[in-house]
Amino acid sequence: MTNITGSILSQEKLSDSDILVLLSSGMEDRNKMYIKSAAIRDTYVGNKVFLRGLIEFSNICSKNCLYCGIRAGNTNVHRYNLEDEEVLEAAMYAFENHFGSIVLQSGERDDRIFTDRVDSLVKRIKNLSGGKLGITLSMGEQTEETYRRWFESGAHRYLLRIETSNPDLYRRIHPDNAKHNYKERLDSLINIKKIGYQVGTGVMIGLPFQTMEDLVSDLRFMQNFDIDMVGMGPYIEHVDTPLYQYRDTLLPLDERFNLTMKMIALIRILMKDVNIAATTALQAIDPMGREKAIKIGANIMMPNITPAKYRSDYKLYDNKPCIAEGADDCAGCMEARVKLAGAEIGYDAWGDSKHFENRKEI
Ligand code: 5AD
Ligand code: SF4
Ligand code: FES
Repeated sequence: MTNITGSILSQEKLSDSDILVLLSSGMEDRNKMYIKSAAIRDTYVGNKVFLRGLIEFSNICSKNCLYCGIRAGNTNVHRYNLEDEEVLEAAMYAFENHFGSIVLQSGERDDRIFTDRVDSLVKRIKNLSGGKLGITLSMGEQTEETYRRWFESGAHRYLLRIETSNPDLYRRIHPDNAKHNYKERLDSLINIKKIGYQVGTGVMIGLPFQTMEDLVSDLRFMQNFDIDMVGMGPYIEHVDTPLYQYRDTLLPLDERFNLTMKMIALIRILMKDVNIAATTALQAIDPMGREKAIKIGANIMMPNITPAKYRSDYKLYDNKPCIAEGADDCAGCMEARVKLAGAEIGYDAWGDSKHFENRKEI
C-alpha cells in the first residue's frame, strides 16, 4: 500500500482529488479500500443480502438510448409483453421462495394502456401476497401523477438511473430530443423522491467519452441527491446500437469491471447506509462478478425470475448471463453464491434502505 492511499482511507471526509486517487488505485491499494468498504457495510447495514426477484415484463420501449440493445430503433429484437398471469405467477414464485421483494422492470412507455396495466399489476400482486411482497418499479420517466398513482397502489421503491451526472455526456449517449433530456430525467428523480418512494439511481461505468472526473461527479451526485439505493454497472457494448462504433475507444472489460468495483466501494464509504445492488452487468464480465461486489460492500441481489423463454429478448447489452436458466436455477444458485461471498440471505424481508429510514427520522 502506498502511504498516500493509506492516509486517504483514514480520513473522515474525502475530497474530489482523494476520490480520484482511489479510483485510479492499483491492486494492492484497492484491496485496502475494499477492506474498509466491507467493514462499513457490516457496521451500517449488516452482512445480510436482500433479494429482489427481477421480472423483465416487456422489452417494448419507446426510447432510443444510444447504448441500449432494446432501443426502439433496433429492429433485430423480437418484442414481447408478458401476459398478466405470467407476471403474477413470477411474483408468486418470488413470494413462495421467500424473496421478500420483486422488481418490475420494462422498457419505457407512457401510454395509458401501459400505466393502467402497471397500476393494476401492482395492486394485484399486493393483494395476492397479502401485502407482504415488496414492490420496486423500474419503468423510466413518467409523469408525477403516474408515479403517485403507482405509489398509492403499493409500490414503494423506484429505480431510475441518471446514467451519467454529466449533462454533456448524457447528450452524447442519447438522441438529441425532448424524450431524452437530462433535465427531465432529473425532474423525474425529484418527483419520485417527493412522492415518498425510496429512490434508487446509478450510472454506467466505462461509457465512451467518460472521464474519471465524470465518475467522481457521479458519486457526488448520488451523495448530494441523498439517494437511498444504488445500482451501477459497467457499460457493455451492444452490436445493434449506435455507440457500438466507439468500441475501440473503450477501456478493456476487466478495467471496466475493476472501475465498477471501486465505484461500489467508494459509494459505500461515502454514503454508508444505502442499499447497493450487485448488478447483473458485473456478472456478464465475470461469472463471479456479483459475489465479488457483495464481498466489498453491496447488499442487494436481483435474481432474474422472468420466464426463461423471454430472457434472450431482454438483452440491453451483449453476453447477458442467465439467459438459458429458468427461475429455479437462479434461486438455487443464489444461496450458494451469497455464502461464498461471506454473507447471508435475508429471506422474507423487504430489506428496505436503512438510509431511507435514517433520513426520514431527521
Ligand atoms: N451496458 C450496460 N448497461 C446498460 N443499460 C442499458 N444499456 C446498457 C449497456 N449497453 C442499463 C442502463 C439502464 C438499465 C436498465 O440498463 O443503465 O438504466
Ligand atoms: Fe429503453 Fe431503458 Fe433501453 Fe433507454 S435504456 S432504450 S429507456 S430500455
Ligand atoms: Fe442465474 Fe445462477 S444466478 S443461474
